[in-house]
Parts: sequence; structure tokens; C-alpha cells
Amino acid sequence: MTNQDLTTAIETSDEWIMERTGIRERRVVSAGQATSDLAIAAGRAAMTDAGLTGADIDLVVLSTCTADSPMPATSSLIARELGISGGAFDLGAACSGWPYGLVTAASMLTAGGGRAALVIGAEVMSMLLDPTDRATLPLFGDGAAAAVIMGTSGPALGTPGAQPTAAPRPAEGHGPGLLGWDLGVDGAGADLLRVPAGGSRLPATDATLAAGDHFIKMDGREVFRRAVRCVEASCRTTLAQAGVDPSDVALFVPHQANSRIVDAIVNRLGLVPERAMMNIDRYGNTSAASIPLALCEAAAAGRLVDGDLVLLAGFGAGMTWATVLTRWAYTGGGPAQPSTLPA
Ligand code: ACO
Repeated sequence: MTNQDLTTAIETSDEWIMERTGIRERRVVSAGQATSDLAIAAGRAAMTDAGLTGADIDLVVLSTCTADSPMPATSSLIARELGISGGAFDLGAACSGWPYGLVTAASMLTAGGGRAALVIGAEVMSMLLDPTDRATLPLFGDGAAAAVIMGTSGPALGTPGAQPTAAPRPAEGHGPGLLGWDLGVDGAGADLLRVPAGGSRLPATDATLAAGDHFIKMDGREVFRRAVRCVEASCRTTLAQAGVDPSDVALFVPHQANSRIVDAIVNRLGLVPERAMMNIDRYGNTSAASIPLALCEAAAAGRLVDGDLVLLAGFGAGMTWATVLTRWAYTGGGPAQPSTLPA
């Protein structure tokens, strides 16, 4: 859906949206398509790329704030389709969800919880958008992306008699893995970006539907300010933890919420601007899918080589943030190009 397409629904223009956000178009699911449909396609592509089947996956983490339904967890539906019987759960940290999931999965593998985890970010943000609200409608899009991450030691779950083996944190050496991370939340900002109705506080009723309380409400200016401040601080914390200078970051993969937010963060941190991955122009803000989508596109475009230091940084509703510094070590057969869903 292009910016031009939106002008039939709301009073806006391609120029305004491009200038204020960097977004040119976004993807929107067809009627009847749900988050699990996107997540399953992404998860399957990642497993194929890694040369693994469902039997090899010990853990599925689905980062999303747009689950198919409150129950069961959408990760169960993914596990069913992909033939996975390891652990599976949904993780709700909005736009920070994928790096939150990455840290969670890596920590479980490191603790001896298996060899391979499938970490998916998938969202159908369009279901949360008020079709008459020009402050939010242009910003968000639907999408999914996934990665298989491999532990460096420890037996697979379910191996008879297997004893979990704790692997050393990779920060201690020069090998691949997570070199540092910073997860956080500032609950004082929890009301700045929210969907008021549809949960236990305000269950769905005719009145909540009529009031549009199932749609995103956002204080855009304040979210903008906080995003710049807290991502900068979180990146500094993470880099300092690993003893890495910003100039040594080969690729910065920020959450794609607004190109002006990314520009401000890159400037403040003194990162090399050309090393910031941006694809917001084609997808808009896909929440938990945005960082893995950008990472996958960067890999597919040959922007990453083994040994590169990659800085991932997400922030979002909550207000949550999650920054991860990782050393790239790719073992797949060639990252899948972003694709549309099979019919
Ligand atoms: N088209 C045209 N005009 C618009 C539109 C639109 N779609 N939306 C607002 N305007 C108007 C406003 O009415 C206002 O007009 P006025 O000056 O006559 O009152 C003017 O444009 C400026 O509005 P602002 O809200 O001040 O515009 P701003 O420059 O702050 O940009 C935006 C708004 C893009 C929402 C920005 O604040 C932003 O990106 N914030 C961060 C939001 C975000 O990233 N949220 C998600 C992050 S967390 C997560 O990903 C879950």
C-alpha cells in the first residue's frame, strides 16, 4: 500500500509521510491472513536456509503484539505447522520484541537448553490501526522475519541421559555470539503507546468497539523524543559492556520506526551513517518484525561477512528497549530474499 493509496482514506500526502517518516509504502495482509501465516512462512524459510527440520529445533520464540488470538499462544500454531515439539512461547515486548527474543533464546541455549532456536518476529499491525487516524495509519505495516540461532555447545533437548552443558558467554572470547546486551523498560511511559481495549482491563464490548478503543493510541512526539534518548543510552551501555567503539560497528540494525529517529541516533552515537541499515521506505514500522526483516535484507545484500560486529537496537510500547551487540557468523545456505506469502 503506497502513501498515495492512503490519501483516499485520510487527509495526507506522499510528501508529508516521506519527509516526516521516510516511509514510501507498507505491506498489508489480505483478509483472512493472520500473524501465524506470516510467521510460519518466515520460520520455514529460516529453517530451510539453516538446513534444519522441525525435529532439530529445541525452542520457538515468537515476538509479537498481534497474536492470532489470546489463546493458544501463536507459537503453538507455528510449532504444529513446522513439526516442532521443543519449547514454544510468545513474547510480548512490542517493537523491542525480536532482540528481547534473541537474548532470551541465546540465554536458554547457553544454559544448556538445546542446540537450535527459531526466533521469529511477526506482526499484523494493520488490525490495530484506526482507518481514520492520520497520526498512526501511515506509520505501520505487516510483516515477518525469522532466524535460526545455534548454540555453540550442549546436547539437544530430549537426548536420553543428556546433561546440560553451560557454554561460556562469547563476550569472553572472539568467537561468534552475543557480545553484550541491554534490555530495559520505563513503565512510566506505558500509556504513550497503547491499545486500550480487548484485554482483561477493558474487555471487548459494543461500547469499546464503537469508541475505537481497539486501535493504537499514540503520543507520537513524546515517543519520538524517548526513542532517541533511550536507544542512544542503551547502545552506549551495550558497546561499553563489550569494550567496542562505535566506529567498529560494521552494521547498525535499528528498529525501523522513523528514519529521522534513526538519523538522530546515528549522529548522537557517532556511528558511520552508511552502516545503518534502513528499509523503512518499503515496509513502514512492522514492530517486532522490523529488526529481523532489516537484518535478513542486509545479509541477502551481502552487507555482512563473518566476524562483523552487528548492533541491533529496538524500542517500543512499554516503553521497552533492547539492544544486542553480536558477532556475525552465518552458517546457512544463503539468506532468503523477502517474499510474499504463498497463495
Ligand atoms: N499527514 C499530514 N499531516 C499530518 C499527518 C499526516 N499523516 N499527521 C499529522 N499531521 C499534521 C498534524 O496535524 C500537525 O498539524 P498542525 O501543525 O497543523 O497541528 C503537523 O502535521 C505536525 O504534526 P506532528 O505530530 O507534530 O508531526 P511530527 O513531526 O511529530 O511527526 C510522527 C509525527 C511521524 C508520528 C512522529 O511524531 C513520529 O514518528 N513519532 C514516533 C512515533 C513512532 O515511531 N511510534 C512507534 C515507535 S514504537 C513502536 O514502534 C511500537
